[in-house]
Amino acid sequence: MNIENPKFADVVAQPSAYERLQASLKSEQHTWLVTGVAGFIGSNLLETLLTLNQRIVGLDNFATGYQRNLDEVQSLVTPEQWKNFTFMQGDIRNLDDCRQACEGVEFVLHQAALGSVPRSLADPITSNAVNIGGHLNMLVAARDAKVSSFTYAASSSTYGDHPALPKVEDRIGKPLSPYAVTKYVNELYADVFAGSYGLHAIGLRYFNAFGRRQNPNGAYAAVIPKWAGSLLKGEPVFINGDGETSRDFCYIDNAVQANLLAATTVEIDAKNQVYNVAVSGRTTLNRLFDLLRNSLLAHGVPADVQPVYRDFRAGDVRHSQADIDKARRLLGYKPTHTLAEGIPAAVAWYASHQDWLIE
Ligand SMILES: NC(=O)c1ccc[n+]([C@@H]2O[C@H](COP(=O)([O-])OP(=O)(O)OC[C@H]3O[C@@H](n4cnc5c(N)ncnc54)[C@H](O)[C@@H]3O)[C@@H](O)[C@H]2O)c1
Repeated sequence: MNIENPKFADVVAQPSAYERLQASLKSEQHTWLVTGVAGFIGSNLLETLLTLNQRIVGLDNFATGYQRNLDEVQSLVTPEQWKNFTFMQGDIRNLDDCRQACEGVEFVLHQAALGSVPRSLADPITSNAVNIGGHLNMLVAARDAKVSSFTYAASSSTYGDHPALPKVEDRIGKPLSPYAVTKYVNELYADVFAGSYGLHAIGLRYFNAFGRRQNPNGAYAAVIPKWAGSLLKGEPVFINGDGETSRDFCYIDNAVQANLLAATTVEIDAKNQVYNVAVSGRTTLNRLFDLLRNSLLAHGVPADVQPVYRDFRAGDVRHSQADIDKARRLLGYKPTHTLAEGIPAAVAWYASHQDWLIE
């Protein structure tokens, strides 16, 4: 670093919008609701908010979330911080549960949903009931509780069959799965609640989030935890298609950052919008496999292990890459981790949680 050059030193010293927000939250306590708190993204939001001394109500029905995720967060914060967390076991399909959870809440981070394209193809009715009915209940409860903002998990699947790369928020195609329909309807409802009732709603279109506590098990596991788990267990890694399918993988800390910036923004132009949440990288599955295998060499995975190729999977889009300029401009979003920086952290977590790999 050139500390002799004051101009450069100034640039380096400038804190990001997220760093400023974290500093201000530490000295000011707010009440947040995190739905889906026992899941991957929800439990990471909980962890960060507790370390910032915030008060959190968490709602979950353990459909795909786990008590062990909450237990791990408890082990990572102080007993005083843990006292700021109130857990409510309940279902977003039940309006009374949503109303109870929203009581006295300032910022809602609505993450609860049934993820996975294949799950929605196997059982579209349940995905619809949870992801659309539950989302509508949450909007009604948040509106009536007069919350300050409602930030919800949208999805890159909303780009559907639109061929353009990188993906820009206002250019979407036709959904390719029931899951994608539900996530698009979430945006439509949020927009109507913003226009009709003045709710401050922000949708975050996550692009393949990954990191600690993402479930590695079962038929609907996401690619990074699934492959990390298979490599650690010495089981085959399957690539659907030729491996040239590409994604914009987004480390969990970036997604947490986007949530906190979105929920607390005071910029009127930034509210009632949807944002891509990713890093604007594009990595093929073949390259991802190499990265994971190389990161796992230190954990006993053989250097010559090869993937097994099989058919393409229905409902998957071929390529995905986000333009993140809108989130940068309007929210001050600045990803802290590229895929290459996130992978070693995620891999280290799976390697130290191998007892979680058995269902
Ligand atoms: N992980 C990603 O890459 C990704 C990408 C795009 C969008 N999303 C969205 O982000 C959100 C969080 O995803 P995740 O990856 O953390 O998944 P997850 O399955 O780990 O977490 C979802 C949580 O919601 C809970 N839940 C499900 N149905 C519920 C119900 N009826 N009532 C109450 N709680 C319920 C589950 O038990 C679970 O704890 C979801 O809305 C998902 O659609 C995730």
